[in-house]
This record gives sequence, C-alpha cells and structure tokens, in this order.
Amino acid sequence: MPERTHTVAVIAGDGIGPELVESALTVLDAVTSTTPFALRTVAVDAGAGTYQREGAALTDAGLAAIRSADATLKGPVGLPHVRMPDGTEAGLLGGILRNGLDLYANVRPVTLLPGVESRLRVEPGAIDYVIVRENTEGLYASRGKGVGNERAMADTLLVTRAGCERIVRHAFDLALRRSGAPADGVRRVTCVDKANVLRSMYFFRSVFLEVAREYPGVEAECRYVDAMAQALVMEPEHFDVVVTESMFGDILSDLGGGTVGGVALCPGGNIGDARAYFEPIHGSAPSLAGQDRANPLSQILAAAMMLDHLGEQAAGDLIRGSVRAALASGAIRLRRDGTAEGGTRAVTGAVVGALGS
Ligand code: IPM
Ligand code: MN
Repeated sequence: MPERTHTVAVIAGDGIGPELVESALTVLDAVTSTTPFALRTVAVDAGAGTYQREGAALTDAGLAAIRSADATLKGPVGLPHVRMPDGTEAGLLGGILRNGLDLYANVRPVTLLPGVESRLRVEPGAIDYVIVRENTEGLYASRGKGVGNERAMADTLLVTRAGCERIVRHAFDLALRRSGAPADGVRRVTCVDKANVLRSMYFFRSVFLEVAREYPGVEAECRYVDAMAQALVMEPEHFDVVVTESMFGDILSDLGGGTVGGVALCPGGNIGDARAYFEPIHGSAPSLAGQDRANPLSQILAAAMMLDHLGEQAAGDLIRGSVRAALASGAIRLRRDGTAEGGTRAVTGAVVGALGS
C-alpha cells in the first residue's frame, strides 16, 4: 500500500499532446511502482478540440477537476485554424488557467543535458539556468482586452507592485535552492527589462532592486532584454535565475531552448500559491501528430517538475537522472531539429529502461 496518494489532473491536449502525455504517464507509472507514494490521475478534456465540441476550451467541470487536484500535467494545446472571432487562438488555456488560478510564476529551466549537441560551442554543464517568467500581468494582462478599430489597435503592459514583488521573491527563493551559475558558482538573479525606454519596466526594475535587498546572499543584476538575447547566446554560463515580464519571458525561453537542443527538451511549471500545472513550453505541432515522431522529453521533464512540486523530489530526480543517462549513453539520439531517432515510444522506453541506472 502506498503511504500517500496525490491526485493529478491530466490534460492530453491537441496535436502531439496525447502522445506526449501518454509517454509521460508511462514513465510516471514505472517510477511510482517503486516509490512510497501513488498518483491518482483524472483526465480533463481541454484545448482546441474541446472548443470545437463544447464551445469553450475548458468546461466548468474540467476547471473544477483541476481546482481539486494536487497538480495538473498538461500537454500542448491549440490548433492554428481554431480561432476566436477576434483572430486569436481559441484552444489556448493560458488566460483560463494562468490567470484564473493565479499561477503567477512560469518557471522554465534551460539546461544543456549530456549527450545533446548544442548549436553553440559550449562545454556540457555550461548552460543551466531557470527563466522565471511573470505569468499573470505584463503585456499578457491585455489578453482578450486589446482596444481599437480597423485603423489602430492597442494592448497595454501592466506591472503592479504586488505582482512584481511576488515574482521577484519566487526567483530569489529559487536561487537559494540552486547551486549558482555554471561559470562561477555564484547565486545570481538577473532582472530582464527595458527600463531605458518604458516606465512600466523602470518600475519592474525598481521593485526588483528593492526586493533584492532582502536576499544579501544572492547577487542581483539587471539587463536590458535586447542585450540579454545576445548574452544568452554569447555567455549562457553566466546565468543562474532570470526573472522577467511575461512577453520577454515567452521569447527568451524559446531562445534558451534553441541553445540546448530545441524546445522539445524544455519543460515549464505554472505555479501559484495554491495550485500549479506543468507542461512543455512548446506548441502542439499538428504536422507531427499521430505519427510517433514527437520528442516526449519536454513532457517527461515537466512530469519530473510536477513531482518536485508535490514534494516528491527524489522521484523527480529519478526521472531527470534517467533522461540524462539515456541521452549520455546514446540510448536516445536526437536529430538536429529536436526530434528523436526511433520516435516517441522508443524515447519513452529508453527513459523507463534507464530508471535507477
Ligand atoms: C508559451 C506559449 C503560450 C504563451 C501561447 C501558446 C499562448 O507560447 O507557453 O510559451 O505565449 O504563453
Ligand atoms: Mn511561448
């Protein structure tokens, strides 16, 4: 009998989502056969397919299931042709879940794993930082609220003191739990903004510097977002934790993915004080769907982040260790476009086979 059980809502999603989620659940099943805890999964229908069938990307019952779960594992959602009357995509869940559940920290590790060839010339271990993307305000606060007409359209970027303080604290608390930047071992939080041009961004930086004073053991520094895009390519080993506004974090996290073998290797957590969900940072790649071609590592690593969040870090470490071992031994071989030789099921089998190795 397990000592404890966590309830996990599972959103299979659109496109390659169902294959990825099936892969992650297979790995979770294998892991929990040896752990003192069990997972009880509850399937929740959500995304573009749900929108087409139900007229909403998530039903009230689905939202209730997510609210009552201990955490949610989510596959990628959205289909390019399924759109709202205003032209934006209808199957996305960010507005509903990130704002609706107040999941203010979008935590996105960027790690170059052993056996993965980066397009940059870097040593293994040189890229290992986490982007902490503000998830409930910034430019995305304008989601669904843009105003204008056929001649002009405006979206507003919002930064509140409370929103800024809590995301910056999340970043510094995370830095305290990590072991510093690869270059020098210094615990460091980098604030990324555009404080030279925008008042909202000067405000973001000011609040960052205020909160930073509460963390004397962590170095605080600021970069402009354009310079940061260069720095993540030229000196990625300098970075440990990066905190930024939502739109900047969206762009920089895909840039980071491009330096570690592609976004197909990149998981993310959407974390609030009460609830959280975990997902790949990429989209649903409809052109790869149903062919056993998608790389499930982002989803498997998202499942590992979910276990950490549930307080089961040893099991999360087991999954990450097994992914590393399978990549390092060549049991998983990635192509330059981020897909894996052998396909989705072969990668899943290699990760399960490497558990505990
Ligand atoms: C992400 C995605 C989403 C975002 C899209 C699908 C709305 O790109 O999670 O990074 O922009 O937040
Ligand atoms: Mn994105």
